[in-house]
This record gives sequence, C-alpha cells and structure tokens, in this order.
Amino acid sequence: MSEKLLEVNGLKTYFYTMKGVVKAVDGVDFLLSKGESLGIAGESGCGKSTLAFSIIRLVPAPGRIVGGKINFMGKNVLELNEEEFRKTIRWKGISMIFQGAMNALNPVYTIGDQIAEILVIHKNYTKKEALEEAGKLLAMVGIDPRRIRSYPHELSGGMKQRVVIAMALALKPPLVIADEPTTALDVVVQAQIMNLLKKLKKELGISIILISHDLSLIAEIADKVAIMYGGKIVEIGSSEHIYLNPKHPYTQGLLGSIPRLKGEIKDLTWIPGVPPDLSNPPPGCRFAPRCKYASEKCNKEPPMIEIEKGHFVSCWLYA
Ligand SMILES: Nc1ncnc2c1ncn2[C@@H]1O[C@H](COP(=O)(O)OP(=O)(O)OP(=O)(O)O)[C@@H](O)[C@H]1O
Ligand code: SF4
Ligand SMILES: [Mg+2]
Repeated sequence: MSEKLLEVNGLKTYFYTMKGVVKAVDGVDFLLSKGESLGIAGESGCGKSTLAFSIIRLVPAPGRIVGGKINFMGKNVLELNEEEFRKTIRWKGISMIFQGAMNALNPVYTIGDQIAEILVIHKNYTKKEALEEAGKLLAMVGIDPRRIRSYPHELSGGMKQRVVIAMALALKPPLVIADEPTTALDVVVQAQIMNLLKKLKKELGISIILISHDLSLIAEIADKVAIMYGGKIVEIGSSEHIYLNPKHPYTQGLLGSIPRLKGEIKDLTWIPGVPPDLSNPPPGCRFAPRCKYASEKCNKEPPMIEIEKGHFVSCWLYA
C-alpha cells in the first residue's frame, strides 16, 4: 500500500471582495501518495492557483480558507499556527514554484545569494556553507555552478526558471507545487524544463503537483490528473483514465481541443461559452450553461461517482 503524502478534504477558499464572495475553491478533495505526481488542469480562473496557495497557506487577502482539511504527512496543517507551519511545513515539507516567479527574482542580488538566503534562514547555514550548497543546487538543475555570481538579468528565461526550481528544492521537500512553470517560455525551453522536473521527480523521489491549463504538458509528468472547473474538481483519475477514457463532458472538451499529429484541424473541438462567475456560480452543475448534455437534473449538484477503480467523475450522466 502506498504511503499517503497529502490528503485534501472538502477544501473551501473564498475571496471576500467588494463585489461579493468569490468561491475560488469550493469543496475540493484529492489524495496524493508519496512520490506520486498530480497534474491539475482547467481554464483560466477555475481556482488552480488558489488551491495551490491554500495548500502552502499563502492565500492572499481578501482570500481565506473557510473549510476543509489539508492533511500532510498525517497532520492537519490547517490546525498549525502560522509560526509552526512556517517552521515545519512551508519550504521544508511543501515548496512552491509560483506562477511567473522567474520574473520575480530580485534584480539586485546574485542568484547564488538568493538561493543561499533560504539555507541561512531555514537551516542556520553560514553564508559560506550556503553558497557552497547553492552551487550544488544549481548543478542539479543544469546550471554551471560558476554562474552563482550572475544576476537574474544575465540569465535566459529558461535559466531563471531553473534557478526558481533550485530555490524550491533547497530544503529537499517531499512535495513541490509547480504553478504554470513553463508559461512564457518557448516550446524548446518548455520541453527542457519539463524534462528537468521529470528527472528530479525520479532521482529525488519527490511528489510534484503540476498546475497548467495545458493537458498535453501535464501528460508528460503526471501519474494522476485532476480536472478543475469553476472552483471544483469535476474529474480525477490516473493519467490513463483521463487521457484514454475521459468521462466528464468538460474533460472531453478540453482534450478535444488539443491538436494531434495524425488528426485534421477540422477534428479539433472547442468549448462554447465562458467559465462561470465564481461570485455567482450557476446552481447545480457549474458546467451546465456550456454542456451539450445538460438536462433538468443538472440544476442539482451532481455527486462524485467512482466509475472505475480510482476514476471519479462528477456528472449526472453517470449517476
Ligand atoms: N486576490 C484575489 N482577490 C479576489 N479574487 C481573486 C484573487 N485571486 C484570485 N481571485 C479569483 O479567484 C478565482 C480563481 O483564481 P485563480 O487565480 O486561482 O485561477 P487559476 O485557475 O489559477 O487561473 P489562471 O489559469 O489564469 O492562473 C478567479 O475568479 C479569480 O478572479
Ligand atoms: S452534470 Fe449535467 S450539465 Fe454537468 S456535465 Fe454532466 S451532463 Fe453536463
Ligand atoms: Mg493561476
């Protein structure tokens, strides 16, 4: 039996804005075993980043986790106070590669100093020890350790992203969350970064949660795939389940919009309409306004159904 690493139950994270309550994550459940990787896909605004921020407990104001449990290595981390969480879980247990982080490296410090700072703060390393370790971390992500004295502007986009990955790995956490780690990189560099993540997963035995709107990217690395729509997971299963036997009409639509080598352009499908306004989502199934199979039943929230072992779908078509 594989060892549980992260178990999320009924997680709800809402933003209390002037315009109303945005239910960005609204009852999310999933389980991740040690060394396993999960891809989370869905259109822009469906709550992927908010889910990641919730797991690492960095939800920005006016957001708040309002319900659910996050069990990490057997502990409900939502019960820890901020100091306990910072000391024991954030970066040491769970680290995150933030969306757009490579453009947020501090321009006035060398990359070596920026990596070293993490080790000085969290591991009490001396500056010398920390710089030595920073060099090793750079080598691990495929950058010549001599670049330790480079400033961010002296690096290409792909190298900056490697630095950000090195920072996330500095404390050797068992779980790394990567939020859109290759957006804004060209396809060649994108492939290199995906290969690096794959290699790190294999060599270090870490779990990765890869967030992307791009299902073809997720296919590269994920053992498990969750499809999010309107703040909820609507389908989750192994990669084989999701790519070979997608059941939710939204998953089918997402997969139908990926070009295939042997297919014709005319075979591509798209999903009509726009994602729901999460401050006022439709009642019942949130996908109903865009779903060609919608019926009266769909005005009620569909249950999550296990249609084959480990493959869950939330849709009335299977209830
Ligand atoms: N700081 C905030 N204040 C108010 N609403 C927010 C805030 N951050 C996110 N939201 C809202 O929460 C919802 C989910 O946003 P989130 O950024 O998690 O989506 P996403 O799936 O990561 O999108 P993308 O693919 O564009 O990165 C959206 O409706 C968004 O407008
Ligand atoms: S529950 Fe109804 S509206 Fe929602 S995806 Fe299934 S068929 Fe479509
Ligand atoms: Mg996002």
